[in-house]
Amino acid sequence: MKRLAGKSALITGSARGIGRGFAEAYIREGATVAIADINLEAATTTAGELGDAAYAVQLDVSRQDSIDAAINTVVGQAGKLDILINNAALFDASETVDITRASYDRLYAVNVAGTLFTMQAAARQMIAQGHGGKIINMASQAGRRGESLVLVYCSTKAAVISMTQSAGLNLIKHGINVNAIAPGVVDGDHWVHVDSLFAKLEGKKPGEKRAEVAAGVPAGRFATPDDLTGMAVFLASKDSDYIVSQTYNVDGGQWMS
Ligand SMILES: NC(=O)c1ccc[n+]([C@@H]2O[C@H](COP(=O)([O-])OP(=O)(O)OC[C@H]3O[C@@H](n4cnc5c(N)ncnc54)[C@H](O)[C@@H]3O)[C@@H](O)[C@H]2O)c1
Repeated sequence: MKRLAGKSALITGSARGIGRGFAEAYIREGATVAIADINLEAATTTAGELGDAAYAVQLDVSRQDSIDAAINTVVGQAGKLDILINNAALFDASETVDITRASYDRLYAVNVAGTLFTMQAAARQMIAQGHGGKIINMASQAGRRGESLVLVYCSTKAAVISMTQSAGLNLIKHGINVNAIAPGVVDGDHWVHVDSLFAKLEGKKPGEKRAEVAAGVPAGRFATPDDLTGMAVFLASKDSDYIVSQTYNVDGGQWMS
């Protein structure tokens, strides 16, 4: 029996990377998945590659009208919304004294307000449907402790962990489970960007930061998106009905809590 048979899922930022990996896993488990991304062209290509159970949706999580329109599209297309993964996020790094208002505003608009208000819109829809739902927020090991050059991103991910706790406590009375996943380091375009930022900030060669970080992972390597899909399927399935407000580390042993 497929664990997500007949379910309708919306995954933000799923045109590529971890979100795309989640979409593939959900489709294997029988769900229909909205590939919702700010980059509609990439979302359309990804949805085409994933087959009939995937469809592309334009979504900028930093804009309320876009969130509302995306939820409406999902309900129009699939008839309902059962599962949301708040996966879209931006990263930046800099010396504390060089942090700009623009970078702060951009990251908070997507990582914090985007997560909150997409979660809110999904919860309203799930409450109206009357049979609960599953919301999974993407945190990070960066939300567990600060990092010298990563103040803004780390603080947004700490906010995701905190919002998961409060929303989980508030929404469980509607049968909506809110939980989070905190990955460590995951290969993909995101890390190409991180590596290039650190190359500039720390005077490293391209690839040097990534190699140093990989050497420090207890599991001995970066994750692939596939390393995270088991947890994402579990948290969307019936097996997690009694799990509320938790953030699970899926990080090769980087953090213990
Ligand atoms: N890659 C890692 O090492 C790592 C580690 C810990 C946590 N995470 C988290 O996992 C999630 C996915 O990471 P990833 O590595 O796949 O990232 P990624 O940068 O590869 O993909 C992010 C996707 O989000 C989309 N996006 C950006 N802004 C958006 C917006 N305003 N509205 C909608 N979509 C938007 C992008 O177009 C892109 O498709 C993020 O929340 C990230 O913080 C990643």
